[in-house]
Amino acid sequence: MSIRIIAAVARNNAIGNNNKLLYWLPSDLRRFKQLTTGHTIIMGRNTFLSLPKGALPNRRNIVLSHTVSSIDGCEVYGSLDEALVKCSSDEEVYIIGGASVYAQAIDRADMLCLTEVDDIPDEADAFFPDYSSWIEAWSEEHTKDEKHSHDFRFVDYKRPGIVDDDKNPHVLTDALEQRVQKAVELFMEGYNCSQSVVAAFADMYGMNRDTALRVSAGFGGGVGRLRMICGAVSGSVMIAGMYCGQTEGDDRQGKASCYKEIQEIIEEFKRENGSVICAELLGLNGAVPTGSLSYVPAERNAAYYAKRPCAQKVESAARILARHIMMS
Ligand SMILES: NC(=O)c1ccc[n+]([C@@H]2O[C@H](COP(=O)([O-])OP(=O)(O)OC[C@H]3O[C@@H](n4cnc5c(N)ncnc54)[C@H](OP(=O)(O)O)[C@@H]3O)[C@@H](O)[C@H]2O)c1
Repeated sequence: MSIRIIAAVARNNAIGNNNKLLYWLPSDLRRFKQLTTGHTIIMGRNTFLSLPKGALPNRRNIVLSHTVSSIDGCEVYGSLDEALVKCSSDEEVYIIGGASVYAQAIDRADMLCLTEVDDIPDEADAFFPDYSSWIEAWSEEHTKDEKHSHDFRFVDYKRPGIVDDDKNPHVLTDALEQRVQKAVELFMEGYNCSQSVVAAFADMYGMNRDTALRVSAGFGGGVGRLRMICGAVSGSVMIAGMYCGQTEGDDRQGKASCYKEIQEIIEEFKRENGSVICAELLGLNGAVPTGSLSYVPAERNAAYYAKRPCAQKVESAARILARHIMMS
């Protein structure tokens, strides 16, 4: 399980006043949605009460409370420990506030995904805990404009102690982590599962985006939407071939070491996801006779993204691939 904290923080660590956010920054809201959609969010009851429309869609909503035992669209737990125990090892958990929950979670988080706003507000009553010892891993500057009242920057921080360990197979380099996120973004833009993985890594091996998208296009939906091997896995196999594939027909040793690498990648995916078969991952097993499968892709809308686990499978396949690239 990964535990990430996401927050918008002023220069003096202020995050709120009168149970309201201090800033309204559309790019920040977009990033929040992009990072948390499809994942689990944990929040305190005050933060839940500050949400304009209740539980956030397309996410597993968890609220912490000692005083309330049920909330529409949310799971409610009486402690952070209890909530985390209910999350599975492959879940990506985002702690979304407020001040009291950030303070409890900061010692357990792997990463802080912050929006640092270049401002000190006149009034604030909720503050983010000290994070001065965390190590900046990635950042993106934004200047104020007609929609954004202040300069701000997106910054990812990693916990000190693990950031430099670039041979730890569970901690990706920043560049590889960004490729994993890119794969998910491509999927959310409408590319198929296989294209999303291949196009996120292809340029590392001199393959241009157009070639990457074309060569992987037919592997979506478990190869041609036939629900066989997961397209995200096929995509990772294609990219793995770029660093481990043999190029001579009689190179048996080269072939063997390539197949070994591929078997390891597939085993890891199976361990994390229970299967590499698209139909099984979608829970369609036995429900659809092969001959009746349509070649027409489903429309990509909110219902699709809420129901399908594919964005998570793309992320899982991309992350496993990235770990192998890092160790190769
Ligand atoms: N800038 C940002 O990114 C951001 C993000 C989120 C929130 N905020 C701001 O943060 C402020 C709210 O922070 P806050 O500290 O007042 O409230 P909070 O952390 O959102 O909620 C506090 C409540 O959560 C429950 N709770 C917390 N820890 C718990 C635990 N371990 N076990 C059981 N229940 C637990 C308790 O509810 P009960 O009283 O029901 O027991 C507690 O009163 C607001 O101003 C909000 O706008 C800012």
